[in-house]
Amino acid sequence: MLLKPLFLSSSRFPPLHKKAIFPSPLLAAAAAAPMASSSTIPTEKEKQKEKPLQVAKRLEKFKTTIFTQMSMLAVKHGAINLGQGFPNFDGPDFVKEAAIEAIRDGKNQYARGYGVPDLNSAIAARFRKDSGLEVDPEKEVTVTSGCTEAIAATILGLINPGDEVIVFAPFYDSYEATLSMAGAKVKSITLRPPDFSVPLDELKSVISKNTRAILINTPHNPTGKMFTRVELETIASLCIENDVLAFCDEVYDKLAFEADHISLASLPGMYERTVTMNSLGKTFSLTGWKIGWAIAPVHLTWGVRQAHSYLTFATSTPMQWAASAALRAPDTYYEELKRDYMAKKEILVDGLKAAGFVVYPSTGTYFVVVDHTPFGLDNDVAFCEYLIQEVGVVAIPTSVFYLNPEEGKNLVRFTFCKDEGTLRAAVERMKERLKRK
Ligand SMILES: Cc1ncc(COP(=O)(O)O)c(C=O)c1O
Repeated sequence: MLLKPLFLSSSRFPPLHKKAIFPSPLLAAAAAAPMASSSTIPTEKEKQKEKPLQVAKRLEKFKTTIFTQMSMLAVKHGAINLGQGFPNFDGPDFVKEAAIEAIRDGKNQYARGYGVPDLNSAIAARFRKDSGLEVDPEKEVTVTSGCTEAIAATILGLINPGDEVIVFAPFYDSYEATLSMAGAKVKSITLRPPDFSVPLDELKSVISKNTRAILINTPHNPTGKMFTRVELETIASLCIENDVLAFCDEVYDKLAFEADHISLASLPGMYERTVTMNSLGKTFSLTGWKIGWAIAPVHLTWGVRQAHSYLTFATSTPMQWAASAALRAPDTYYEELKRDYMAKKEILVDGLKAAGFVVYPSTGTYFVVVDHTPFGLDNDVAFCEYLIQEVGVVAIPTSVFYLNPEEGKNLVRFTFCKDEGTLRAAVERMKERLKRK
């Protein structure tokens, strides 16, 4: 563990993310900062805070997420935040106007649990257009509070304790925590640079009679990899041969730059065993709205909806109405989005290369992963601290995205979901201040 004796011994300080294995006083200080007091005599409120932190066993090893820690450090050091993946620009006016109108129209009480009918229809229509699959909006689409809830409802609704679920590392951090809440056994397959391709033989060898599901994220956070047709076809045939489910997180499907996005559900024989999950946040630069959905055949939707009913029951009504307006955007909206992001990506990638990083190709998402070792720091956490303190830029250490953090120690992730001025300023700082060893 990273912050051991110094910080973990004190129950006052929340221990940091379990994966932050490398010594890091800076992160520890950031995590501890909100608890600090200016007075020497503890107030009643502070005494309260000194009580040992409590958490159920199933979540014991998951601590403050790295995104929160890095964003706190960014503020503290006035660093440019290319860490957490939220745009620093606003979503489109026509969607915001639709939300305002829905609120004014009195669409403010509980929505139907599985989604307002208009949104279910818009989701089904977009899925038909994108994947060619015809789904029943009433029976096969469930609206959730962001993709995060779609992931939780899918896992909690369809996975039993002891079931094995295969994930591809590096992976989005909610997967492991939610699988842990479901009592699942996580089996991780590592995607390695430079191309982060799926080691298909290893995947075959990991599948057992206990495998219940494979969780796929394409385009992939953090690497920017897009699963190839061959990889998806192999995964599909393994799922079919072994009677395994597929859970597909496709939140970056509209940020596919160099190849068309392929939904695993659209491959022959896969729809009946796949839950496809998505959300509005990335595509419409409205990550705070938390409107998501899960699409699955009736027999799988049952489990998803059972969990959803008792997790949140329903999602914000006016935002659902606005989301249905968003999903009816013309193709030109998505074309422009892609064009904008390609320009941003070029600024960041060229800048990172000029600054001396080894930059791995990113074909989708708004992330790019680099090898930081030319700068001589021991590991990704140490490098990110150095980058914040000495250079004034925030990146995310990728070791937090692996079951075995060692596997990510050479890699850090940058995001380009920022305006061009911010990206250029960050790149200039890195070019000026980073010194190769
Ligand atoms: C791969 C992946 N899945 C899911 C999510 C969460 O999506 P939402 O904000 O819709 O819950 C994110 C957000 O960063 C993500 O990167």
